[in-house]
Amino acid sequence: MDFRLNEEQQMFKDTCASLADNTLAPNAGAWDQGHVYPADAVKTMAEMGLMGIAIPESEGGTGADNLTYAIIMEEISRGCASCGVIMSVNNSLYCDPVHRYARPEQRATWLAPYASGEKLGAFALTEPGNGSDAAAMRTTAELDGDEYILNGTKAWITNAYEADAFIVFATTDRSAGHRGVSAFLVDKDAAGFSLGKKEDKLGIRASSTSQLFFENCRVPAANLLGELGEGFKVAMSTLDGGRIGVAAQALGIAEAAYRAARDYSLERKTFGKPIAEHQAVAFKLADMATRIEVARLLTHQAAQLKDAKANYGKLSAMAKLAAAETAMWVTTQAIQVFGGNGYVTEYPVERHFRDAKITEIYEGTSEVQRIVIARAVLQEALR
Ligand code: CAA
Repeated sequence: MDFRLNEEQQMFKDTCASLADNTLAPNAGAWDQGHVYPADAVKTMAEMGLMGIAIPESEGGTGADNLTYAIIMEEISRGCASCGVIMSVNNSLYCDPVHRYARPEQRATWLAPYASGEKLGAFALTEPGNGSDAAAMRTTAELDGDEYILNGTKAWITNAYEADAFIVFATTDRSAGHRGVSAFLVDKDAAGFSLGKKEDKLGIRASSTSQLFFENCRVPAANLLGELGEGFKVAMSTLDGGRIGVAAQALGIAEAAYRAARDYSLERKTFGKPIAEHQAVAFKLADMATRIEVARLLTHQAAQLKDAKANYGKLSAMAKLAAAETAMWVTTQAIQVFGGNGYVTEYPVERHFRDAKITEIYEGTSEVQRIVIARAVLQEALR
């Protein structure tokens, strides 16, 4: 494996690092405290080509590779984890499946404006009653002439308030179980569609999360994404890629907390010297840096496997698991390095700690990642 970045990857890394350092990080605390959607930052990310980074230029995207995606996700999330999730949902959970499954006539409307960042997309799989058991969804879609009628409730939907379109998973044939699930492209203005209240979250508070209600919501039959009954496969294969994005987001959060702790430990003095010179703190920094690097290697390997069109589901689950648990561990240690200062909003590490937690939950909990990994390694053993 070649661990060096090529010129284009380095250029994206540098420009995203500059955005993170100069614009995102200085504002992330205020956005978090005020639950403010960072509209200007999202516009800038769109202008930089970050909202459809791995979608071909011919379809409105930037045409970069998935390793570049992981790199920019880490840098943006280092500056602001909310900006990271807004971007990752549009890239991995909306544009990627539309790119893979949309019919030619659907692409101009449902892909190009989203890949360019002119519009924002969201992914509606989870419901109040399914969560980890994604196949147990209750939302239904019934064909009526040339329309489907959707009924049901989706939950925990990132970008809900700002999204222009949603990929909605619904069962078109309950007796067929997961093989009866289909995916639909639903416009935010569809009749019978409405939003719930904005969730008041522990972290990533500058992004919106809400329930979605479908009450006899009419969707043109032409908005079916992929084949009828193919929806569960659309969802699962999408999450394989999404997990690379969340892993990279977790890396960015961990890196931000590590750097804050490192810099603070060089300034703060106890017992007559900077706390970085106390072995108890120096060893923490060594462990933080090492764990981040381990998770980064897994994340980049998963992205490179995706670029190589190889099977990458096991590696993306491993990357997400490792990076999310690293982010929780590193942010906890960072607060410890800051002591009391780590427990107040004047310093950023309490926010990094709150932001880190969701990476162990969304796009498959750490327990779900372990299911995916265990199934893969056991299958390999039986081959
Ligand atoms: N790619 C393509 N197809 C896949 C697949 C994959 N990675 N994984 C499974 N499938 C297919 C299987 O081949 C099988 O198809 P057939 O029966 O036709 O052969 C079918 O899907 C069912 O597979 P399983 O029996 O493995 O499915 P399961 O019911 O046991 O579920 C699970 C497995 C891994 C636990 C799955 O339910 C899962 O991933 N759950 C977590 C869901 C999740 O991540 N939700 C997060 C939603 S997004 C979000 O977080 C919100 C946001 O806005 C950020």
